[in-house]
Amino acid sequence: MSDPIRVLVTGSAGQIAYSLVYSIAKGDVFGKDQPVILTLLDIPSMLLVLEGIIMELQDCALPLLKEVVRTDKEAIAFKDLDVAILVGSMPRKESLEWKNLLRANVNIFRSQGAALNKYAKKTVKVLVVGSPANTNCLIAAKSAPSIPKENFSCLTRLDHNRTASQVAMRLGVSSGNVKNIIIWGNHSSTQYPDVHHAKVTVSGTEMGVFDAVKDDDWLKGDLISTVQQRGGAVIKARKLSSAMSAAKAICDHMRDIWFGTPEGHFISMGVYSNGNPYDIPDDLIYSFPVVIKNKSWKIVDGLEINDFSRGKMDATAAELVEERDMAVLFLRV
Ligand code: NAI
Repeated sequence: MSDPIRVLVTGSAGQIAYSLVYSIAKGDVFGKDQPVILTLLDIPSMLLVLEGIIMELQDCALPLLKEVVRTDKEAIAFKDLDVAILVGSMPRKESLEWKNLLRANVNIFRSQGAALNKYAKKTVKVLVVGSPANTNCLIAAKSAPSIPKENFSCLTRLDHNRTASQVAMRLGVSSGNVKNIIIWGNHSSTQYPDVHHAKVTVSGTEMGVFDAVKDDDWLKGDLISTVQQRGGAVIKARKLSSAMSAAKAICDHMRDIWFGTPEGHFISMGVYSNGNPYDIPDDLIYSFPVVIKNKSWKIVDGLEINDFSRGKMDATAAELVEERDMAVLFLRV
């Protein structure tokens, strides 16, 4: 068996982490031969909750789980990390203006980026989940200049999975029969779920999703708005935000980073936009279609973009530019 890897989950007293840490500790992400040392970081008032989670993890009797550390200190949490999954962030509140929410998150992710820079391995893979995920990820990357920007990504896999599932349900096939969905842009309601390049296997034959569904209005209308508003729909029904599905998406995202994407498949993740082939402005964390090999991602090149897609890709980019420009201002003060 190999040496244990050190994996940090921030916001680990929260809802998403409750499902996530179990999946990581039982080998769903890094494989059934990879022992892990889990570090749980949350704010001081949550340390007792973390103690309860540690007791539960112990009671699961998971052979791959070598150690669990709980802390509210960045110097402990970020030490020698192989993987950092940054879930905790300042939550949206009615009383908190968007600008002030962004400012609070800039402070959190600047501090955690600096801690990555100072304490983590230079090879650390960083996945940002806490909202606004793209801009938080950008701030963390900017605050960790000694770690390659390529090591940072943000989660849009939940939106990707939601789209695949909607298409599969529409056609009455398994979601495993749908591939090459793209989420472009921001993990927000401006995101663009794009199925122009997606394929589905129906009765043993692989075909384009537009050919299989035969309802362009749905694919360019209700499907997109359903995915864009899915988070809100879950909150309305559950009175809590998506947690099980977010944890599953984090596992899918990190497993693909660790082991690579299957041949002929691409997936969506928010990555650094510099030099991208789709005329998206530089210096954003923007969700693109990527393939992953040897723990490195590459944006899928050469996909044809029609006017419909262009407009939506640019709209979500414009939102990210606005978010970035304001966040960078906060970074300077
Ligand atoms: P939650 O409110 O249940 O848990 C958040 C946890 O983060 C809390 O325990 C809180 O104390 C902790 N926290 C806050 N500030 C922290 C800091 N500076 N350091 C460490 N921990 C801190 O929230 P939940 O449901 O687990 O969601 C977490 C985040 O993930 C939210 O921002 C949510 O909007 C986002 N999210 C993102 C998704 C995506 O696809 N990118 C999907 C679903 C949720």
